[in-house]
Order: sequence, then C-alpha cells, then structure tokens
Amino acid sequence: MNSGDPVPEAWRSQVSEVMIGSADIATRLNDLAADISADYMALNPVLVVVLKGSFIFASDLSRALTIPHEVEFMRAKSYQGVSTTGVVQIEGIDLTKLIDRHVIIIEDIIDTGLTLNRIYAKVQSAGVASVKTCVLLEKMGQQRRRDVPFFDYVAFHVPEKFVVGYGLDMDQTLRHLPFIGVYKN
Ligand code: IMP
Repeated sequence: MNSGDPVPEAWRSQVSEVMIGSADIATRLNDLAADISADYMALNPVLVVVLKGSFIFASDLSRALTIPHEVEFMRAKSYQGVSTTGVVQIEGIDLTKLIDRHVIIIEDIIDTGLTLNRIYAKVQSAGVASVKTCVLLEKMGQQRRRDVPFFDYVAFHVPEKFVVGYGLDMDQTLRHLPFIGVYKN
C-alpha cells in the first residue's frame, strides 16, 4: 500500500487518510537501518525500545540492521485519548544493563518531546557509553518544548494530526494497521 491510497473499507469509520503506506514505511526503514548500521559498525549497540507504540517499528528496524545489536524494552505512558496528560511514567527496564553500552532509544512519535526528554535523561544518567535517539515520526508543530534533546534519526516528519497504526494507538486500538493513518475524530 502506498501513501494516499484509499483507506481499506474495514477501517474507514475510524481512519480518514493513509498518511504513510506500508511500502513507503519499508523503503524508508531500509535507508534508516543502513545509516544506523554504518554509524554503529563494531559497537554492538543496544536498542532500547519504548513500549508499546514502538514495537512494530523496532521489530522491522532490528531485522533490517546488518550489524550485531541487542534489544531491551522500557515502558513509557504519557497519553490518555488524544490529548497529553503531561505526566510521563517510565518503568520496566534494568538500567544497569546499559552501563558502558552504546544505546539507541527507539520511540514511535515525538509530539511535545516530553516523553523522549524524560527517557533520554534517565538513560544518559545510567553510565552509558553513548546515547542517541531514533524516532519513527516527528510531528512538526508548535507544541515542542525547548528543552528536548536533538533527535538523531527520524524516519518521517509529519503534520500535527493524530495518527494511528504501525504500532500507534488510539486508546489501545488500531495499533495493528499495517500503515500510518489519520485518526477520524
Ligand atoms: P510527547 O511526550 O508529547 O512527545 O508524546 C509522545 C507520546 O505520545 C508518544 O510516545 C505516543 O505514545 C503519544 N502520541 C503522541 N502523538 C500521538 C499520535 O498522533 N498518535 C498516537 N500516539 C501519540
């Protein structure tokens, strides 16, 4: 499926538009994986995958990498429905596993940047050799906080619309769509 294709009948009541089709996601991920593979040659990085939204992105990216690497998971929760609560909870990771390691944080989407900012600070203070961030989507809007870290790898820049699919949810639904779509609200 390509970007702009009609929304499949089954999802038409909840999704208004195919923003990024599965074919475009796959092409971009291969390029991103080639960049990361070149940058981390011989460094055996650890992908720290931020659940739940990054699970599909991370599994495709991990399989496209051509270098040895490890995968760890953490959980961050900041949203209820379509608006932020402003609170970020982080749990589920043993940070001692990251000591002296080259870490790449894998996040699904940057809106205000608050979630990644909190995660970045926590990982950085864990005695890592280095830390970079890799995000599937960066929303281009006015909501960005000024104190967010630089995002090292970004698959796509998107307009400020609420999106679902390819791991991203609306109250835990629609994560499984094979494309990134605009949520109808
Ligand atoms: P931030 O802290 O404002 O950058 O928000 C980041 C988190 O909010 C992401 O990890 C997602 O869980 C969630 N989020 C932000 N925008 C969207 C969206 O358009 N669709 C689904 N989840 C979103």
